[in-house]
Formats: sequence, structure tokens, C-alpha cells
Amino acid sequence: MLSAKVVELLNNQVNAELYSAYLYLDMANYYKNEGLDGYFNWYKVQAQEERDHAFLFMEYLQQNGEEVVLEAIAKPDKEFKAFTDPLKAGAEHERLVTGMIHDIYAAAYEEKDFRTMQFLDWFVKEQAEEEDNADDMVKKFELFGNDSKGLYQLDNELKARVYSAPSLTL
Ligand code: FEO
Repeated sequence: MLSAKVVELLNNQVNAELYSAYLYLDMANYYKNEGLDGYFNWYKVQAQEERDHAFLFMEYLQQNGEEVVLEAIAKPDKEFKAFTDPLKAGAEHERLVTGMIHDIYAAAYEEKDFRTMQFLDWFVKEQAEEEDNADDMVKKFELFGNDSKGLYQLDNELKARVYSAPSLTL
């Protein structure tokens, strides 16, 4: 049985992951409007991954006999004025999510909830990857995105990202 605290944090995480999907969809739409279809594609796939993360938290709660409570998802309210704005916001957001995952881990550790810790292991690793990818997006743009030829090429490369289901199964 999971503790009330851990259940609350896991439930919050369902909402946070759905918010992440919303945030990345907003970024995808920004780039679509700017004519950068590769960046649009990259963030659309990112949104799909975030939705999957939400489902995993939801299914984990259900697998443990807990009720999932869906709360309202906040409207993405970041303003993008330059091509680098979503990239930097994405990197900052991933660090925030890492902190949230670590907080759940810490609560599970405190309760000797080894099952939840084991479930979260995948997310701890995933977050390291997510932060790395997000930082890479910023770095690549700063290196190559400020001239039109470089941006054209970068955008083309990002068209190649394809969605694949998460490697974690419950
Ligand atoms: Fe679900 Fe980008 O962390």
C-alpha cells in the first residue's frame, strides 16, 4: 500500500506531465507559425512523450489500487519573442520536473516504499536524458541557428525525430 503523501505526489505528477505536454504543444505551435517545421515536429513528439509519462504515473497508481484524481491543467503562459525562448524555457522546465521526480523519490525513500522507488528509477534516468536533450537544443541553436543556412539545416534535422512509445512498461 502506498502512503497518502506518495499518492498525492504521484497524482500531482500526472497533472505536471500533462502540463508539460501542453507546454511543448504550445512551443510546437509557435514554431509552426514561424515556419520552422522541424522544431514543430521535435516539440510535437516531446508532447507525445509527456502524455505517455502522465499515463505511466496514472497506471502505476491504478496498479496499486489507488484512485487517480485529474485536476485542471494550467494554460501555457510563456511568451516567445525569439527562436531561442522555447528552447531555454524547455531546459528550465525539465530541471523543474527533475526536482519534482526527486521529491517523490525522497518521500518514497522516507516511507521505505521500495516499489515506488523502483518505479521512479526509470524517470530519474529519463530526466537526465531530457535535460541533456534540452540543453543540446539550446547549444546547437546558439552555435548554428543564428545564420539562415545553419537554421535551415538544423530545422531539417529536427524533422527526423519520430515518436516511439516509452521503454518502461508496468
Ligand atoms: Fe516528463 Fe520531460 O519530463
